[in-house]
Amino acid sequence: MRLSRYFLPVLKETPADAQIVSHRYMLRAGMIKQASAGIYSWLPLGYRVLRRIEQIVHEEQQRAGHIPLLMPTLQSADLWRESGRYDAYGPEMLRIRDRHDRDMLFGPTNEELITDIFRSYVRSYKDLPMTLYHIQWKFRDEVRPRFGVMRGREFLMKDGYNFDLTKEDALHAYNRHLVSYLRTYERMGLQAIPMRADSGPIGGDDTHEFLVLAETGESEVFYDSEITDLKFGDREIDYDSVEQCQAVLEEFTSRYARTDETHDEEVFNRIPEDRRRVARGIEVGQIFYFGTKYSEPMGATVQGPDGKQVPVHMGSHGIGVSRLLGAIIEASHDDKGIIWPEGVTPFHVGIVNLKQGDDEADAACQALYDGFTALGLDPLYDDRDERAGGKFATMDLIGLPWRITVGPRGLKNGVVELTSRRTGESEELPPEEAVRRVAAIYAAG
Ligand SMILES: Nc1ncnc2c1ncn2[C@@H]1O[C@H](COP(=O)(O)OP(=O)(O)O)[C@@H](O)[C@H]1O
Ligand SMILES: [Mg+2]
Repeated sequence: MRLSRYFLPVLKETPADAQIVSHRYMLRAGMIKQASAGIYSWLPLGYRVLRRIEQIVHEEQQRAGHIPLLMPTLQSADLWRESGRYDAYGPEMLRIRDRHDRDMLFGPTNEELITDIFRSYVRSYKDLPMTLYHIQWKFRDEVRPRFGVMRGREFLMKDGYNFDLTKEDALHAYNRHLVSYLRTYERMGLQAIPMRADSGPIGGDDTHEFLVLAETGESEVFYDSEITDLKFGDREIDYDSVEQCQAVLEEFTSRYARTDETHDEEVFNRIPEDRRRVARGIEVGQIFYFGTKYSEPMGATVQGPDGKQVPVHMGSHGIGVSRLLGAIIEASHDDKGIIWPEGVTPFHVGIVNLKQGDDEADAACQALYDGFTALGLDPLYDDRDERAGGKFATMDLIGLPWRITVGPRGLKNGVVELTSRRTGESEELPPEEAVRRVAAIYAAG
């Protein structure tokens, strides 16, 4: 992409109403525009990151054997009356009446709809285990939408639902989700800690929230500092193996880590004092096991091996896809702007031409651009006729992890400059070598 032909409405001024850094940078970098309270348009740069996050979520869900589909945003109230949640859900649910006076709602979550799909088609235990998921817009009429995409009213969520014959199988599905979530967040450059949580309006006995530590987080969290040393890394895991998934769950949940809702001072105080941490965190996901809470009232049963009809055991599992942009920025920025982890960056590399219109500099930039494109990488080439200072400020603000600076002086010596956004370190090297270096970094990630 050439910046002169792109739509990147960068703001010089810091928007007055944005209280936290991720919201400020998303507005300043031209990633989002508020459409109304808690509802945003995704401008091209923000949309690119959103799509990359979605892509990682899809890949990791499917690696775990979960099946994608797509359910609508508007739902019929009748299904929610069957589960009893139409009245129970409260004012966060946006209720709508259509021209035929039918009660509809903009889905805040999808347990009822997916249970209806399941019961319409699945008859036998032989079709289980099954986990279906989608990535779809949700609406919750939050009293106080704030912090940009962190607490929106309309937001993008991955929500998945497992259907299993027995509680044991459903707990394996729970563990499988926990493992896949650890992988998912790490690929985005995030450490998200599973913490024992409260089940809220979804209901159920077993639930963990995944929290990214950040001062601006809305939840208060209590944990044993040893937990932050745990990394999932690049270990191979067989998602069908009950033992392997169980072992990962135990490894990542055996140390104390809870949100304020389930915090127990007495248990916490058994940890050696120097390891006790009280901090704040951003909830980027949650997994639940809730057994037959929906399958029973809604009649989602299968024929078991003994020929008897039994309600299936279910769980639901969410990832806050749009919230993740905010969480990643909260975890990775400096006073000049965003620092995207390689896994989610909107463009792989920025190319800054210090002397636009100079034949040699223009040709060198074009060659870099073509080199990256040929390797399947997306460069953003700042080909505008602007001061170097302004170009650097834009690149720093939008946070591409790597920048290549091209100018007549370096080219005389056959070199360009490769700069890491994270460390600020620069290195001079021949253009072809710069392309190889950047490509190798992405190939390794
Ligand atoms: N208002 C919101 N804006 C953005 N993301 C949200 C919002 N509400 C929930 N999410 C994201 O969706 C994920 C799954 O939702 P869920 O656990 O049902 O939400 P909650 O815990 O707020 O009831 C949450 O972990 C969070 O990351
Ligand atoms: Mg939650």
